[in-house]
Amino acid sequence: MNFKVSHHLLLCATANKAACCSADVGNASWANLKKQIKHHDLENIDRPEGVVLRSKVDCLRICNDGPILLIWPDGIWYGGVTPERIESIVKEHVLGGQPIEAWIIRRTPQQQRHP
Ligand code: FES
Repeated sequence: MNFKVSHHLLLCATANKAACCSADVGNASWANLKKQIKHHDLENIDRPEGVVLRSKVDCLRICNDGPILLIWPDGIWYGGVTPERIESIVKEHVLGGQPIEAWIIRRTPQQQRHP
């Protein structure tokens, strides 16, 4: 089945090898990310902007000041994520299109490919 995707959110919340955050804040942040996506109906394939995908990943190779949240296609990395920050990021960045500058720790915009 084909469907449009607006954003993909990757959260390093409960890493096995390294530890960028405590398990408590990681688990709570992941739980709130799932809750916010459901609350805003962002997995609805009929959403005009496309669905919002979420993945809990093992490590994003930052490994401190986590949890780390990477948002594609914007290439914006947030550090020090909390359940409360997740709620603001979903509202302001994902829904409103305005990244929250104060929490951004890295930018890796995608390269344009030329034929
Ligand atoms: S353990 Fe979270 S970025 Fe590496």
